[in-house]
Amino acid sequence: MNAETTPRRVRKAVLPVAGLGTRVLPATKSIPKEMLPVFDRPAIQYVVDEALAAGIEHFIFVTGRNKSAIEDYFDRAYELEDTLRQKNKAELLAELDRFTPPPGATSFVRQQAPLGLGHAVWCARDVVGDEPFAVLLPDMLTMAAPSCMQQMMAHYAQVGGNVIAVEPTDAPWSYGVIDPASRNGRLLKMRGMVEKPAKGTEPSNLFITGRYILQPEIFALLESQGKGAGGEIQLTDSMVRLMQSQDFHAVEYDGRSYDCGDKIGYLNAVAAFALANKDFGQAAAATLRAALENR
Ligand code: UTP
Repeated sequence: MNAETTPRRVRKAVLPVAGLGTRVLPATKSIPKEMLPVFDRPAIQYVVDEALAAGIEHFIFVTGRNKSAIEDYFDRAYELEDTLRQKNKAELLAELDRFTPPPGATSFVRQQAPLGLGHAVWCARDVVGDEPFAVLLPDMLTMAAPSCMQQMMAHYAQVGGNVIAVEPTDAPWSYGVIDPASRNGRLLKMRGMVEKPAKGTEPSNLFITGRYILQPEIFALLESQGKGAGGEIQLTDSMVRLMQSQDFHAVEYDGRSYDCGDKIGYLNAVAAFALANKDFGQAAAATLRAALENR
């Protein structure tokens, strides 16, 4: 592959965190959904780690009112760090340090009203600029090694264009699913996507798991995008329009996603990440088993 055909590097990620999280109320009344702990860390930490592993250098959080805890979380906690230092808690300090992005690696833009995911992504246009970028929905956690975004980047390096992650489901009618044109291993060329297809009409069983690599031309389309499903400006609608002029591929990544956007999904994510924790997995399994037996 020569320099002309090498896809432009993806350096920036947009993390839309301005939603109201109404499906997990009252937990989200004063705490952002993305800050709810999934076992031992906020959900958003897993998503940032996934993107960091994929080489992302700059994180653009699209925030709203009530979301300042996210900004604080990615800042230094001076009093806490000072106290830990005085108590010689070097390991804890190092761990906190690992979770703090380098100076200048985060931006926060405000979506004044939750008008939809497409609108949230559009709010990041000036910070992204004219380069390809990643979008990670922080209420979808992925468990994969290499990380889901890492797997997507590997395919992007080969095919360029727009790349999204997908996963098989038994209930395609509940999700946005892709319409594949052809398949080569885990990589599928797309010809379309359908939001919640009627039963029996699903073009595939592969649902879109909230991870995207997009070209900057999406912003002009989002700008003119009218309201779609649910009266919101939908990212999917602009992606379908972009597909008329640019390639879209889907990667059936090796791993699993956990939708923390509703109460049972959140519970499932907490259990799964506790069970997968190398230090606490066994104790978590015993605790969960006991909870079931003693109920
Ligand atoms: P969701 O629809 O799952 O999140 O959007 P929500 O709106 O918070 O959920 P409910 O239905 O009220 O419970 C997917 C992602 O897009 C963000 C959300 O924060 C979430 O991470 N989002 C959604 C925005 O940033 N702005 C919006 O206007 C809508």
